Amino acid sequence: MHVISWWRTQFGEPETKRVADAIAREHISQGPVTAEFEARLAEALGVPHVVAASSGSAAMLMALLALDIRPGDEVIVPNRTWIATAHAAAMAGAKVVLVDVLPHLPILDVSQVRSKITARTKAIMPVHLGGRLVDMKALSAIAQEYGLRVIEDAAQALFSGNAGVRSDAGCFSLSVAKLISTGQGGFVATKSKETAERLKLVRTHGVADVIHCTYTRLGFNFRLTDIQASIGLAQLDRAPGRMERMKALYSRYETGLAGLPFVKLIPVDMRAGELPLYVEVLCDDREKVMEHLRLRGIQSRPFYPDLNRAGYLGGDGEFPNARVFGERGLFLPCGPDQPPENVDRVLEALRAFQ
Ligand SMILES: Cc1ncc(COP(=O)(O)O)c(C=O)c1O
Repeated sequence: MHVISWWRTQFGEPETKRVADAIAREHISQGPVTAEFEARLAEALGVPHVVAASSGSAAMLMALLALDIRPGDEVIVPNRTWIATAHAAAMAGAKVVLVDVLPHLPILDVSQVRSKITARTKAIMPVHLGGRLVDMKALSAIAQEYGLRVIEDAAQALFSGNAGVRSDAGCFSLSVAKLISTGQGGFVATKSKETAERLKLVRTHGVADVIHCTYTRLGFNFRLTDIQASIGLAQLDRAPGRMERMKALYSRYETGLAGLPFVKLIPVDMRAGELPLYVEVLCDDREKVMEHLRLRGIQSRPFYPDLNRAGYLGGDGEFPNARVFGERGLFLPCGPDQPPENVDRVLEALRAFQ
């Protein structure tokens, strides 16, 4: 039986060719290919500065360090996201303060942010989960009122509306289950020249010139390589086609799932310019549905646990909205190169579920 994996994406001839070219030119570590990749991303996002990083997690930590988030500071994070968002804040030494998500969507409930702000709060990290856009207008107004930094986690939202370009810094991931991928990788987008310069320093141990070296600030090695950037350039060419296919895939599921009472699509608002990166559902009896699909050669993936389950973060409180997603959320097979026939097989299998 041909197994349908939960995510399908492609790498091929264009990536191979660019990587071979980079190696032939001895562009191995971070150099001109990374600079070209940064310039193309900046142009595509309509921002003046993009700083590449070794992962989306590294991009977030770089942004926090560049914006001077320090031990003792508090950083507000939604209770539903990949744990990387909270870990970046914790690695910067900050205390993670969790806020619940909206009742109908797994993104930050901006109306609950104010009640979590204290004298120590320094930053808010909204997460545009699965391409769903957080209300940045309302959030920016709160941030401005309290003098807080806003760092967007747009790891799952490349080219979804204006995700990642409406704050001090927008952080993106280039890991495999993303619109485009370099295997591992990430980047920060910013409108601020000063922030971009700081990000570059933080990316290389606070050193602007590794030959004539001066120590300026705390940093680390967060660099992407030209080999990865070569893959990224080829992947960027694929982005427009992928976006169309992902929207079509989402619509195919939307129609097919409509009559099934035990699965409910977690919506992405394509009319508002959101790009559905994944196909996510809330599911009664999630484990049974996963097993039913597995027996038919279909891989699905349960949602990550809510962040307040990570006891070491010290996130206390009640998060009733997040809990529904954490306990019932499921990724169905998707991805830019998932064939439509596979979606039909998934829908057929779901229709056979009793
Ligand atoms: C919402 C979110 N934030 C952050 C990250 C971290 O990115 P990376 O895996 O590239 O470190 C991811 C990656 O999956 C993510 O989905």
